[in-house]
Amino acid sequence: MPHIEDNGQDVLILKISSQNTVDLRHSVLWPDMPREHVVLPEDAHGMHYGAFLPRTNQPVAVISLFRAPIPIGVLAERQTSPDGSYPPMVGEDTVRFRKFACNPQYQGRGIGTQLLRYALSMARSELGVTIAWCDARRATQEWYAKRGFVPFGDTFFKGPVEYVRMKLDLDASVDVPRKPRTRVEDV
Ligand SMILES: CC(C)(COP(=O)(O)OP(=O)(O)OC[C@H]1O[C@@H](n2cnc3c(N)ncnc32)[C@H](O)[C@@H]1OP(=O)(O)O)[C@@H](O)C(=O)NCCC(=O)NCCS
Repeated sequence: MPHIEDNGQDVLILKISSQNTVDLRHSVLWPDMPREHVVLPEDAHGMHYGAFLPRTNQPVAVISLFRAPIPIGVLAERQTSPDGSYPPMVGEDTVRFRKFACNPQYQGRGIGTQLLRYALSMARSELGVTIAWCDARRATQEWYAKRGFVPFGDTFFKGPVEYVRMKLDLDASVDVPRKPRTRVEDV
């Protein structure tokens, strides 16, 4: 069970079911939409992680990862549909992360950074992927840029929210260890 201490913040990161991500996905990302909006058809095939603080039994941050080719080229860069299909695509060794959200009460404490770093290191070691990408909200673009992500393609909208795609070369990133730093919890 990974237990990560960083910057004085004691965070437990666990693999969770997709069902356990839905509350935060909904309340943080799409509160004005029905809950079904944040349930993805591909959830059953994803890896889902939650960050927990001591004495919390619900995650304070969640992220979901899916093996998915990276969209490239003119068509993909101009694509504006929110339906998740992005032709043309390339790459077998790429992971897409989605529905990354931290409870606003706990934002700005480094939890999101730890969760993302851990999830990407697990994707690298378990799936063998070398590139991570996401549809990033423009409001979060700087946050990703500070963590080594670079934008690609045109911006686009999902409903009222503007997005840009961002990617990270996991092999070049010093911030994503090959194996996450873990220790077994004391019992
Ligand atoms: C994006 C998101 C998941 C990041 O999670 P988070 O826990 O707030 O992120 P962090 O705390 O790791 O980083 C936020 C800031 O806190 C700072 N920070 C890190 N450790 C800290 C600590 N111990 N104490 C105080 N601040 C700290 C970081 O430096 C960072 O600032 P920076 O971006 O200027 O470098 C979260 O803000 C969120 O849910 N946003 C709304 C939904 C969203 O946009 N999701 C992404 C969709 S693409």
